[in-house]
Amino acid sequence: MKILSFLMITLDLFCIISYSFGNDAYIQCYDHPNPIDRNYKVPIHCPIIKEKKIPIQELAASSTNKFKITFTCGITNITLCNKVKNEFETIGTIITSVLIINSPITVNASFIDFCIALGECNSNSKYITLGSAIPARTIQLQDDDGRIRTYPQALVKQFQFDKHPENQRDFLLVALHEMIHGLGFVSNWDDYINSNPEILTPDISLTSTKFNGFLESAFDKYMIYIPTRERISSIITKEFDKFKNGSNNQFSSLQKFAKTFKESPQYNFSLDMIGKGITPFSLGFLLHESTKASDAIILETSLNPYSKGSSISYFDLKHITIRETF
Ligand SMILES: *[C@@H]1O[C@H](CO)[C@@H](O)[C@H](O)[C@H]1NC(C)=O
Ligand SMILES: *[C@@H]1O[C@H](CO)[C@@H](O)[C@H](O)[C@H]1NC(C)=O
Ligand SMILES: *[C@@H]1O[C@H](CO)[C@@H](O)[C@H](O)[C@H]1NC(C)=O
Ligand SMILES: *[C@@H]1O[C@H](CO)[C@@H](O)[C@H](O)[C@H]1NC(C)=O
Repeated sequence: MKILSFLMITLDLFCIISYSFGNDAYIQCYDHPNPIDRNYKVPIHCPIIKEKKIPIQELAASSTNKFKITFTCGITNITLCNKVKNEFETIGTIITSVLIINSPITVNASFIDFCIALGECNSNSKYITLGSAIPARTIQLQDDDGRIRTYPQALVKQFQFDKHPENQRDFLLVALHEMIHGLGFVSNWDDYINSNPEILTPDISLTSTKFNGFLESAFDKYMIYIPTRERISSIITKEFDKFKNGSNNQFSSLQKFAKTFKESPQYNFSLDMIGKGITPFSLGFLLHESTKASDAIILETSLNPYSKGSSISYFDLKHITIRETF
């Protein structure tokens, strides 16, 4: 496989929220300027804007591509650039046909040569990069179970109360994958402390030295431990809530936080979680409407060592053949 690849981010410049968040004028958001570095985030305050609701009938009537794609081609082959651009349009149409999208989603898509642009030519790493995506902005929302989770802006905007040439197929598959990540199919479980993963926690919300808790993503709400069918949010994240009795704590650096965390009773749960992250058939994605574990989609937990960005946030490729869905 050629290491010619692409990266993309969803690009939603304004935070548009159509329901009320108390009397606050602002809500906590995070911008993610670099799709390759998922852990890099910039906290910002989003203003709350009221948006008119679009009737569902109107949505059904319009089945056009709801994705507004800005495409940057970082290679010199114009023919290939045009093919890739067309594929992004196709992906927009595919996703539009299966989701109710009432507010257009903007995408900043780039196609680059990872070898030339990022120096990833003959990487010794066990895994090669095919694509990378991230929501341009995530927004903290209080969920119906009371927990605050990060939702991608492209998803928040939606809340209102054939044939392809053979050589294009892999690209379509990868790009579609990445687009779905940008829409929120992405877990916040990661190792935010060690560069070689040793533990897993939800995002560590550490802003200007104050620790604000462990932050799940919208995706994480639906994660279960397959053998017992228990929700990870209930059996593990809830334990993390007990860290330092849940009180606001001052840490002058991530290193200081890491030291305190390592000595806390909660640390064991982060070790337990990475164990689940590298054990096949451990983690699944199960919507709340379903009570049957057999309805769960198996998440990727067969990679060992744990792979940042590939473990957990994907379906288990051994058990789902994505090609068959085309
Ligand atoms: C440009 O890309 C097209 C389509 O992939 C390919 O057929 C052609 O050989 C490429 N041209 C060059 C100069 O690499
Ligand atoms: C879109 O992506 C390109 C390439 O990564 C970047 O140079 C550009 O600044 C991005 N545009 C916006 C508006 O973020
Ligand atoms: C948490 O609260 C309990 C009971 O109030 C107390 O005994 C314990 O020392 C506290 N732990 C920490 C880490 O503050
Ligand atoms: C973590 O678990 C191990 C073995 O299960 C136990 O020996 C150890 O005391 C635990 N550590 C903490 C901090 O709870």
